[in-house]
Amino acid sequence: MLRELTGFLRIPSVSTYPDRAGDCRRAAEWLCDHLTALGCPTVQMIEGPGHPVVWAESPHVEGRPTLLIYGHYDVQPPEPLEEWTSPAFEPSIRDGKLYARGACDDKGQVYCLLKAYEAVCDASGNPPLNVHFIFEGEEECGGHVIYDLLHARPELTAADAVLVCDMSYYAPGWPAVYTALRGLCYAEISVRTLQRDLHSGTYGGVAPNALETLVRILSGLKDAAGEIQIPKLYRAVKAPSKAELKGWKKLPFDEDEYLEREVTGKALTGLKGYSVPERTWALPTLEIHGIRGGFVGDGAKTVIPAHAVAKVSLRLVPGLERDKVAKWLQKAVAKLAPRWADVEVTMLHGGDPVEVDTSHPAFAVLDEAFEEVTGRRAVHVRAGGSIPIVPELGLAGAPVILTGIGLPDDGLHSPNEKLDLDQLWSGIQIFGRFLELFAEKGGAVEESEEEELEEADAAS
Ligand code: BES
Ligand code: MN
Repeated sequence: MLRELTGFLRIPSVSTYPDRAGDCRRAAEWLCDHLTALGCPTVQMIEGPGHPVVWAESPHVEGRPTLLIYGHYDVQPPEPLEEWTSPAFEPSIRDGKLYARGACDDKGQVYCLLKAYEAVCDASGNPPLNVHFIFEGEEECGGHVIYDLLHARPELTAADAVLVCDMSYYAPGWPAVYTALRGLCYAEISVRTLQRDLHSGTYGGVAPNALETLVRILSGLKDAAGEIQIPKLYRAVKAPSKAELKGWKKLPFDEDEYLEREVTGKALTGLKGYSVPERTWALPTLEIHGIRGGFVGDGAKTVIPAHAVAKVSLRLVPGLERDKVAKWLQKAVAKLAPRWADVEVTMLHGGDPVEVDTSHPAFAVLDEAFEEVTGRRAVHVRAGGSIPIVPELGLAGAPVILTGIGLPDDGLHSPNEKLDLDQLWSGIQIFGRFLELFAEKGGAVEESEEEELEEADAAS
């Protein structure tokens, strides 16, 4: 299995880099080959204006429920390369952990589900349920191939449940199911103050500096206390319920250890009066991801930059839809722009926040599997991160289960991303058991409801 998985991880499927398109396709082909080897009679690469979507259907088993499994085969850029102990695309095992970009997010977790399905088929001699697989290659870059596909063919999401395995345990030994995901509004702010760069001595004192202007706009968007300066933003937030807040308070959490081991900084920042779970799960954020402009090479150059660009994003919580927030951001930036600057805000990508109702019986089935394998049921938490396609996965009305086998210190999007191999092995057991139990019980509730409806129809 390690040889197989490392073969998948070796493919540098960085979706945001145009020159990696061939590698993204190779990762999609790897999945197609694998799904064919698993015995899926339908395996398709669905093309669009970006990286392909992989769609597969297991052999049809009459009278058994259908599970739709979602995952993504693309990964984030590996940079800064010099900070990796072993190269990002040369998977390496140290101390029971597999290090590689995508080891956890999400190739390792996709692999875990494929192996769970394989194990269950082998164990029972036949596929015990219907599984549809949908894997995209643009989750990390904001492409819309899967979005267009699901809007054109919403029936692809028809299933008894959808399983998304792209997240983590709450803590080692504490499996989690997610009740909300934050949305995202990712934008580029571009400032032009001059037609060309100028000598900073000759014109310093009169010429408007694009970088300075940009930095002032950015600092106007958030105050020193961490409050985002977009009118209406906080008022629109749907606050978590008292019961939810109470649940979060009961979770094991050591702020000092969190700061040292996960955040790796000297102090936490953010709004005063709110706990870490509230700040990372229930409040919006504004981050500056990068600034381009002026002179950043080695040495010194005395120049007044004419043009500067910043990449920023807001994380969105329930109550904050992406399109609404995008308009508010545009307005706030326009208000902060001085008359000497041409300022443009371009939306790059994003997604709406998601809330998940976990009352469907499929969640209880997963809990049973978690309990059998780990000794504990899932805790209900929210995610700070985003998976933009999740709202569409529920288009046909199936419950969407958000879970995963990662650990909080896996280093997603960071150097030295890893997957604990014990999490992979137990993950295969968990999801294998889930598939078996779901095969028996997953569709049961819906079918009996259907029968009741049919009976009621017939009676009337
Ligand atoms: N797997 C993550 C999302 C995630 C991270 C969920 C941690 C829960 C906990 C996903 O692959 C991801 O990183 N998504 C991007 C989406 C964005 C680029 C639109 C994210 O959140 O930055
Ligand atoms: Mn990710």
